[in-house]
Amino acid sequence: MSVPEKVRQTVVELRAAVAYHNDLYHGKDNPEISDAAFDEILRKLAELEAKYPELLDDASPTQIIGAGATTFDPVTHRVPMTSLDNAMDVAELQAWGERAAKGLNNVAMQFACELKIDGLALSIRYENGELVQAATRGDGKVGEDVTANVRTIAVIPKKLVASSGVVVPSVLEVRGEVYMSLSAFEKFRDAKMRENEKRVSEGKKPENVPANPRNAGAGSLRQKNAQVTATRELSFWAYQLGEVVGAPNFATHSESLDYLRSLGFPINPEVKTLDSLSKVVEFCQQSEASRHKLNYEIDGVVVKLDSLTQREQLGFTSRAPRWAIAVKFAPEERNTILKEISVSIGRTGRATPFAVLEPVVLSGSTVSMATLHNREQVQLKDVRPGDTVVVRKAGDVIPEVVGPVLSLRPKNSKPWKFPTSCVCDLKSKLVQVEGEADTRCVEPECPFQRDQRIIHFASRGAMDIEGLGEKTVFALSDKNFVADIGDLYSLTLEKLLQLEGFAELSAKNLLKAIEDSKSRPLAKLLVGLGIKNLGPAAAESLARRFGSLDAIIAATPEQLSEIDGVGGVIATKITDWFAEKSHMAIIKKFRAAGVEFGNVAVNDAPQNLVGKAIVVTGTVEGFSREGAQEAITSRGGKSPGSVSAKTFALVVGDEPGASKLTKATELGIPIIDAVGFLKLLETGELPN
Ligand code: IVH
Repeated sequence: MSVPEKVRQTVVELRAAVAYHNDLYHGKDNPEISDAAFDEILRKLAELEAKYPELLDDASPTQIIGAGATTFDPVTHRVPMTSLDNAMDVAELQAWGERAAKGLNNVAMQFACELKIDGLALSIRYENGELVQAATRGDGKVGEDVTANVRTIAVIPKKLVASSGVVVPSVLEVRGEVYMSLSAFEKFRDAKMRENEKRVSEGKKPENVPANPRNAGAGSLRQKNAQVTATRELSFWAYQLGEVVGAPNFATHSESLDYLRSLGFPINPEVKTLDSLSKVVEFCQQSEASRHKLNYEIDGVVVKLDSLTQREQLGFTSRAPRWAIAVKFAPEERNTILKEISVSIGRTGRATPFAVLEPVVLSGSTVSMATLHNREQVQLKDVRPGDTVVVRKAGDVIPEVVGPVLSLRPKNSKPWKFPTSCVCDLKSKLVQVEGEADTRCVEPECPFQRDQRIIHFASRGAMDIEGLGEKTVFALSDKNFVADIGDLYSLTLEKLLQLEGFAELSAKNLLKAIEDSKSRPLAKLLVGLGIKNLGPAAAESLARRFGSLDAIIAATPEQLSEIDGVGGVIATKITDWFAEKSHMAIIKKFRAAGVEFGNVAVNDAPQNLVGKAIVVTGTVEGFSREGAQEAITSRGGKSPGSVSAKTFALVVGDEPGASKLTKATELGIPIIDAVGFLKLLETGELPN
């Protein structure tokens, strides 16, 4: 078949794109596109090459793995470090299983299933037990010499020691994945951000902050100065043998992993050997569902035949072994077009920029919007409308824009500017408040803020009005049925029936839910008011100390600030809130509608234990377990469950816990009995 010129051109472009992105990924550890987007380019290229075989040549990126070595000394792998073929779904996994079974004349197979660690492949060579060389995979034939850097990784043995029944071979090449754990990545990224803040304040350009643990891990491993690598907390899982001379003969892969474990190599605990593909499918599904419980990133499961004889029988294709397959999870990162950047206004007026995206499927769901967090983040990432961007949605978290793909940026694109006025009809000013990272709309009448305040009032943590979600609030607000949270209690069946999607039953249900909310506890009502910084714990303490909303309204900031967890700032916020005419109008509407303002039993105990943590162990005479704790908290103190250096005293009753006593003795914490406890409650002081 003659090749159309257009196809020739496309193949040239695709190969150039693969080379470009390979260099960014392997050479610069700073990829611009997601793995999934890269795989898509490679797949497209392979498809065209399959359709027009005369275009195929040995130098095509579909025929070689990764990119060649760059700045480190080259290391030729004595046993090539091949890549793995991918299965994108169950059908492709099954097809691989069938091919393997056919190649083995349908004998039974055992499958060793391992997590596919999203890190950097590494080969480590030991001679007579000494670590002599470590190399990256490179193009599979020649990698980079990173020995000095690998020596700084704590979990990698530098010397292998023989123990009972475990011999040290004369040559042992161990392969595995270097990675940065999520916790190490978080620490590293925070430090980088702080460094950048300092750089910017000194008028210097900020440095690139790695977008994910993989890039951070790869960048850390490929440092020219090994001392830098030493500061980066890298980890390693061993999963494969390379060249081996003088080791025991293993029948299975699992045995070889046990051997590596006994020599001191970290072996991932999630490895499982299974005897059927249906069990393998189940393993893959479970691993995908629980991937976010791990402290490292995985992007699939590697399924390997366990029998080493069977592996030999099947051998390799030009690219990968026939005896293993990588089952890839649904991608969590993808490229898409950022159509526009908009700003959403929260209930306190905070303006949060977000990206409106060309819809894209991520982690199994369609994403068309992603957060950009705040003004600084947009500036730092420099994402612009029209950009192709990398979008990430990991598990249940809110999707976010990782960054732009600069090579695909349209010409004439301009940096996005944060709007100076609110998107609402009032066009009120958006201002960056001194000392805050946030930009805010400062107009309390702003309809966006008003809607968000109503949504918050109805939410689970506040008045818990079932059926009053975002959509209904927007509809009510559109019809001007509610201007504030007080108006919710004058809604009628007639009004609700005018809303789209409401019928008699749903309208009655909502009215019932609103009615039920009138008897929520005082703390919930306080949270529902949306007073800045007043959280559920402080609301609970306020309710307990003052007993009713009216008592809180009448209190001075000084009286309020005496409450545990309230403090001067929140106390002033509370009095300021009730001093506002429009807010008292809401309270009036609540009162008229019969919203309960609380009749919580007032606690008038002296507040003599504020700021003191008193731990109770055993049963203290004259108190129930909860009673002793309540006696402490009602006096403003805290009663945590364990002893620490911050503990003020340990109260010891009958049958105390040994660990609390030991810890308190070790730390020199005062230990008091029931009599001393009574004295403490009375005076707030320790007995002499
Ligand atoms: S085995 C010949 N096992 O995935 C088999 N690879 O896409 C060699 N990887 O190059 C690889 N976890 O960097 C194997 N448990 C695991 C793995 C794993 C991650 C990486 C490795 C490999 C790539 C293939």
